[in-house]
Amino acid sequence: MPILKETIKVDLGPRSYPIYIGKDFMEDADLLRPHIKGRQVVVVADENVAKLYLDSFCSNFRSEFELLEIILPAGEINKNLESFSLIIDNALGAGLNRNATFIALGGGIVGDVTGFAAACYQRGVRFLQVPTTLLAQVDSSVGGKTGINHALGKNMIGAFYQPEAVLADVATLDTLSKREFVAGLAEVIKYGLIIDRRFYQWLLDNIELLLARDFSALTWAIRRSCELKAQVVSQDEREIGLRAILNLGHTFGHAIENSFGYGYFLHGEAVAIGLVMSSALSSKRGWIEESQVEILCDLLDKIGLPSKLPEGVSPEDFMRVIALDKKSTDDGLRFILLRDIGEAVVASDVTPEEVLGLF
Ligand code: GLY
Repeated sequence: MPILKETIKVDLGPRSYPIYIGKDFMEDADLLRPHIKGRQVVVVADENVAKLYLDSFCSNFRSEFELLEIILPAGEINKNLESFSLIIDNALGAGLNRNATFIALGGGIVGDVTGFAAACYQRGVRFLQVPTTLLAQVDSSVGGKTGINHALGKNMIGAFYQPEAVLADVATLDTLSKREFVAGLAEVIKYGLIIDRRFYQWLLDNIELLLARDFSALTWAIRRSCELKAQVVSQDEREIGLRAILNLGHTFGHAIENSFGYGYFLHGEAVAIGLVMSSALSSKRGWIEESQVEILCDLLDKIGLPSKLPEGVSPEDFMRVIALDKKSTDDGLRFILLRDIGEAVVASDVTPEEVLGLF
């Protein structure tokens, strides 16, 4: 029996949409049906999610819609032009028209590639997100960032393209490996650090419940993360200003992912190290206490997330990759730092020496 616990609205005028959070939606797609307009539906999943959920999810639609199922190879390494082309080729091959609806069933990688394909297919078709990882439920499925990686940088090709709805089924988190699950907690912690000190304290106090995947605790963490993200995105959809704070730890994180090769670190793991590096930089500027960096490291250790770079990373190579990141501006390196716990700021004046000082 599906349980709808929360509905959060992303307020973007005519492009506003709901985020539904609950349990056991896979067997019942009633919530999504009103968001599908045409007769043709494409469901995209990777090979792992396909085994678990594709059949039960698609069985909701088979009798009513012309259904196309597309299975992508799994992993960040496949968030690329080939996966994008696979979707477009199949959609064109099946004769899908401009009224088709694309549904991304899976984690952030499938969501990003499918969203980008939806943005481009015949100049844009309807798109729904059904995230099945914690990271996708709290972050990547919300806000309309879609895209693929390039050998020279993560997410270097993409579009802002909002979904019509997001359906986060907390029950799908039960089948995640511990590694995948905890990677999502890095993004949850990020929200506390950037914008909600009380939420951060709640996370410190309730981490054991979250690690036990307690339904109520998880629902609250997902709800609060989505609310905070929705607030930020509603004010700055295209990251002209405020939205950049959602990238706390990501400039470092993307450089880590790129330096080690996509797939070595999960995105959330790289972000976890990035959160510590950003906090350490903030502390060196005297903005937050050094003890706060230690509290964060202890939390990540308890969760089983990395808190420092592996030995042997060359600071100079690392700086070169950072310089390529799209969060750098014409003027220099741009980082999100913490003025305080719960208060992120954009700092465009970070010097290479400050970054090198972290090694
Ligand atoms: N993950 C950062 C953003 O959506 O803006």
